[in-house]
Amino acid sequence: TNEQDGKVVEYLLKVLVVGDLGVGKTSIIQRYVNGLFDREYKATIGVDFAYKLIPISKDKVVRLQLWDIAGQERYGNMTRVYYREAFGAMIVFDLSRPNTLDSVRKWKADIDAKVRLPDAKQTPIPVILLANKCDMVKNSINPAQLDAFCKENSIVKWFETSAKENINVEESCTHLVKTILEIE
Ligand code: GTP
Ligand code: MG
Repeated sequence: TNEQDGKVVEYLLKVLVVGDLGVGKTSIIQRYVNGLFDREYKATIGVDFAYKLIPISKDKVVRLQLWDIAGQERYGNMTRVYYREAFGAMIVFDLSRPNTLDSVRKWKADIDAKVRLPDAKQTPIPVILLANKCDMVKNSINPAQLDAFCKENSIVKWFETSAKENINVEESCTHLVKTILEIE
């Protein structure tokens, strides 16, 4: 807390976490927020929420609100409601199942069609890509190809992650928050 005037401004930041069934969205959030990993798969139903406080400076803190949207929701019609007032998103795919990368385009298009930043230009919200379960596969990433994929789909940046081994989870989330705060 700021000892001069005791005022710490808190910003609520809503961020979406999307991607196909079982790619590891809930696991990434659990790792990031609680430092835990569960090998057992329990599919998310609808949407779940998690919060994390991120100190930005002496008098500024971000309350990150993560919307953990079930993979099966891509076939539902609730995403428009879930996406409302989001300021950023992470799209997750599973490196051990390459077809989950194909779905990333669909998730990105769904986001761009249904939510925009509240500025005059209606800018698309910043999106990062998480290539998850990197602990399971060796040398399956072609960085140049993923760079091109991100450029083509207007994705800010990609990260190789493992919720299991705690690789790049914190780094990717922090990068997205920083990107959002720079736009603000
Ligand atoms: P839905 O809620 O159905 O959309 O799935 P989800 O994307 O939330 O996936 P979830 O986090 O439930 O993970 C699915 C399975 O993958 C679970 O058995 C996890 O333990 C496992 N898993 C998640 N992340 C990793 C990872 O980085 N490495 C490995 N090896 N397994 C992982
Ligand atoms: Mg889940």
